[in-house]
Amino acid sequence: MGFPDKFIWGASSAAYPIEGAYRDEGKGLSIWDMFAHKPGSTWSGHNGDVAADHYHLYKEDVMMMKEMGLKAYRFSISWSRVIPQGRGNLNPAGVAFYDKLVDQLLEAGVDPVVTLFHWDLPNELYKKTGFVSTDAPRWFAEYVSQMVLKLGDRVRIWITINDPQRFVVFGHQLGSMAPGERLPFQQALIVAHELLQAHGRAVQAIRAGSKVDCKVGAAVMGIVYVPESDLPQDVEAARQVMFRIQERSLWNNVWWLEPMTTGRYPMDGARLFESMMPVVRPSELEAIYQPLDFLGLNIYTASRVRIGEDNRPQLIQNSLNTPVTAAGWAVMPSALYWGAKFFYEQYKLPIVITENGIACTDWPVHDGKVHDAQRIDFLAKHLAQLERAIQAGVDVRGYFHWSFIDGVEWSDGTKYRYGLIYNNFETQKRLWKDSAYWYRDLIAANGAGLSAYG
Ligand code: FCB
Repeated sequence: MGFPDKFIWGASSAAYPIEGAYRDEGKGLSIWDMFAHKPGSTWSGHNGDVAADHYHLYKEDVMMMKEMGLKAYRFSISWSRVIPQGRGNLNPAGVAFYDKLVDQLLEAGVDPVVTLFHWDLPNELYKKTGFVSTDAPRWFAEYVSQMVLKLGDRVRIWITINDPQRFVVFGHQLGSMAPGERLPFQQALIVAHELLQAHGRAVQAIRAGSKVDCKVGAAVMGIVYVPESDLPQDVEAARQVMFRIQERSLWNNVWWLEPMTTGRYPMDGARLFESMMPVVRPSELEAIYQPLDFLGLNIYTASRVRIGEDNRPQLIQNSLNTPVTAAGWAVMPSALYWGAKFFYEQYKLPIVITENGIACTDWPVHDGKVHDAQRIDFLAKHLAQLERAIQAGVDVRGYFHWSFIDGVEWSDGTKYRYGLIYNNFETQKRLWKDSAYWYRDLIAANGAGLSAYG
């Protein structure tokens, strides 16, 4: 059986980690520009001022995508590049960049997949109120309408917001990512509520403006629990943990996905957060609840669960031998099988793996090449598990590796490299890692031969 003929083999990126050119040609500053310039906020003081200079080197990058045989490339639009103040006047040079990128991709036979919000809010809007305001969804919808007006005659896949969990928890509660806020939970709930509305309003704007038959979804951090065994009790235990809220935290799946797919906040969370909840109007829930064409999942790792002796789900500690990435995340290939399956069964939407990848500390060795055997192993095992999900009847439409090229990984700087393509950040010379060749060959075979990796 294998992968369907139309399976989308892709790779992902986002504006801040790779574009650079942070003040070129009229770009306004974003909260990430501000945050990364604050001493002590990022690893070794790294920032994305220049990054992989994709803004200037996009043609070369698209050529490599073509050679790799990518069917699609996911990138995000930097809102402050196209609308420097966040609202009002467009920056023609910024818009032209995305316009040319889209054309270049289409010419190369690579479908553009556009993420509208990958965390880099224009700083001018942050100074006003940021997302702690009922204005934010409207600002976002205005910006989205403009982008759909410019690109909606060619772009067929849109993603509204990316990984809202990290944006809210790390950016607004823990302060470890932009904008570096440490808000009380009550306010974090407001940010989440406005962000969800921004998502819904964006879906409306895309549907209203697109000139082609397009697909719209959101990409959330898919927090996955895998059962320790295939016994039905263990499977049910894992499923329960995945779709419940047991603590006062926005680090979960359902607080985001229930309102998007049903127009209601989940009962367990609403009860737990009760005294902290913002006033929620029915019209706001209606705005959030928009039909979606797919569910985008960023899945990197998983935790293991079994049914306990008390008949309740029990988390299992990783062993001393559990492989971990350079970022310390457990490598758990079955995350893609169970993740795709559980989310599909729960929300009944086609699944797209919008991100999956491994943090390594790659460098070119004595022969001048990057031998990233761990990335190949990671890719092969995860894709084998995704294939297993497809064989079990899960409607998986595509897989996007994070990331196409090494970038400045947000507050981790270049401590971790995620790319299939190695980038030398001083010379901006690109180098194919072994994994890039491996992925190219796998795409050419439409995923055949993965069973060897179980
Ligand atoms: C995802 C982000 C992506 C990258 C990976 C490691 O949640 O969307 O930009 O940081 O995590």
